[in-house]
Amino acid sequence: MVAEAGATGEPGDPLAARREVETLREEVNHHLHRYFVLDDPELPDSEYDALYDRLVALEAAHPELVTPDSPTQRVGAAPASTFVEVRHDTPMLSLDKCTSIEELAAWETRCRRLLDEGDEPDYFCEPKIDGVAVSLVYRDARLVRAATRGDGTTGEDITANVRTIRAVPLKLAGRDVPPAVEVRGEVYMPLSGFRRFNEWATAQGERTIVNPRNGAAGSLRQLDPAVTATRPLSMFCYSIGEIGERASHESRHSAVMEALRGWGLRVNPWGRRQASLEDCAKYVNELLAVRDGLDYAIDGAVIKVDDFSLRDKLGQVTRKPRWAIAYKYPAEEASTVVEDVDFQVGRTGAITPVAKLAPVFVGGVTVSNATLHNMDEVQRLDLHVGDTVFVHRAGDVIPQVTKVVLSKRPSDARAVHLPSHCPVCGSAIERFEDEVVARCNGGLKCQAQRKERLRHFASRHALDIEGLGDKLIDQLLGEGLVDNPADLYRLTAEQLGGLERMGAKSADNLLAALDTSKRTTFARFIHALGIREVGETTAATVAARFRTLDRLLEAELETLQEVEDVGPVVAARIVEFFADEANRGLARELHETIGIAWEVPAEVPGESLPLRGQTWVLTGTLEAMSRNDAKARLTGLGAKVASSVSKNTTVVVAGPGAGSKRTRAEELGIEILDEEEFLARLAG
Ligand code: IVH
Repeated sequence: MVAEAGATGEPGDPLAARREVETLREEVNHHLHRYFVLDDPELPDSEYDALYDRLVALEAAHPELVTPDSPTQRVGAAPASTFVEVRHDTPMLSLDKCTSIEELAAWETRCRRLLDEGDEPDYFCEPKIDGVAVSLVYRDARLVRAATRGDGTTGEDITANVRTIRAVPLKLAGRDVPPAVEVRGEVYMPLSGFRRFNEWATAQGERTIVNPRNGAAGSLRQLDPAVTATRPLSMFCYSIGEIGERASHESRHSAVMEALRGWGLRVNPWGRRQASLEDCAKYVNELLAVRDGLDYAIDGAVIKVDDFSLRDKLGQVTRKPRWAIAYKYPAEEASTVVEDVDFQVGRTGAITPVAKLAPVFVGGVTVSNATLHNMDEVQRLDLHVGDTVFVHRAGDVIPQVTKVVLSKRPSDARAVHLPSHCPVCGSAIERFEDEVVARCNGGLKCQAQRKERLRHFASRHALDIEGLGDKLIDQLLGEGLVDNPADLYRLTAEQLGGLERMGAKSADNLLAALDTSKRTTFARFIHALGIREVGETTAATVAARFRTLDRLLEAELETLQEVEDVGPVVAARIVEFFADEANRGLARELHETIGIAWEVPAEVPGESLPLRGQTWVLTGTLEAMSRNDAKARLTGLGAKVASSVSKNTTVVVAGPGAGSKRTRAEELGIEILDEEEFLARLAG
């Protein structure tokens, strides 16, 4: 009876309703904590949603049961007209910084000088999160105020906005929560959320966010908390303020971090206590090595003296504690000037505008080029030659221009126009209405397209011709020794030996590599041909379906569209490609005359392919074959290869380094194979 009342949201027995609301709240909070604080959900989203919806319904039926710390009340407040000022009980400090291990060691020497004989400091190292510092005040375990750092003494009250961040508990858990405690930490925008937000904003024609830190700051400064609630934000907590430190009885930072964790707050998993400065130095390098794999931006590591009694002895100078230091990593964003814009021609004639930059040190290297992708992007950025721009470079990702600083635009700045003719071959540049990309229509008359085609043909995921690099391709084209991929296989040792910087040994190696490349897979062969829109995955599914070149050459639009992942556009590209006599002839020549060949598995009717109806996921590294070859084998056997694990997954192949996908498969009880078992399965 009671359950029915709850399920429909109708008022039933009030006492039972209260009990159910309380239980539901605890459950919802528990799952929010698992999901947003521990990154380790126990329930699929749909089941969580059902719990949450039930709580909403019950509260609607019993408004008297609604409390401010109910998880349904995160977006409660009406839009504000301004932010109210808040004075911090103890100032929010900033950090001294260093950029080398020598400077870090000098900091330690200074510390030791100020400590007493016999004091042996140890340290706590953690990532320096690139977000916005926020103070949270909890009274009787309830979040009562959240404020920005401001100038360190006075910040702004952003409680309504911070309440919408689900990684921030509205109520602390555990028995040892002090009656009043101030928690400090960094609110940030996860990189995945940042990208998702910008994709959404672009699609909606809304303003995009320049970088995750601006995203976090801007989202927290929204007057309407309902807007903040739509922004992907999270928080890592890294200290407690005065009111709490006295109350919490902890004597070490590491213990405080554990306490915070115990109260349900989010603490960064990379925090480590280190016994010595050498260990801190190691930590700094290790963290830098994993930086690009994190889902949040960090701008360094923070090294803190762990023991509070030693911190007291060290004290602070002008708003900076002596007991902590930030080790700053090379910035991933820098500003520089666009000196020119060049237009590069790709394999299929695609014209890519590239910004030529005044050299700038960013992300640990000097950068002087940044891709602008296409003319739409140039327009979106409103980029002119002469502009000052922000350049972003993280990890191995190619540098990107993220923003134009309009206030710094010089009066002689020059607008960027798409040239009417190809800068390499002089053919016309065309841009079709439904495409963002403009193209040189010179086809293989264009030296740039010929070069890119050769480069693609020889590349690792295509025919993988070792030793045939960029420079050599330039030389071969320049000397007129090759024109198309088939010519590569007609090269002789004498011709190669005659090239500058090419010894007899390298020439032999290249000839051997060319020979090796003739034994390949049909998927690689199709990929190597360089058909527009046909990447590795499509090539693999097409290869699995047609198996021989003859059949592929005969394939009609309708048949091609029956292939999984091949839609009308891709099918049309394939037909178009082979309708061109030159392409058709080249494919035949490579296969029939030159002898590039692959194994054709015995014919099996589609319905009886052994893995038909199954979905496989590959994760971690494979040693015996590339991920794409494995994919091709699986598709050839009728399986679908997916990129994420769900309850529809049949088997997960997990090589070394497999992470969350493996965990997810374990949770869902899905069969997991290591590489050896996988190979055995393929062989069987
Ligand atoms: S400790 C006195 N720990 O860096 C200690 N700060 O320049 C001050 N920050 O405004 C804070 N990650 O916003 C600390 N793990 C971390 C941090 C961190 C980021 C920020 C913080 C502060 C600035 C200090």
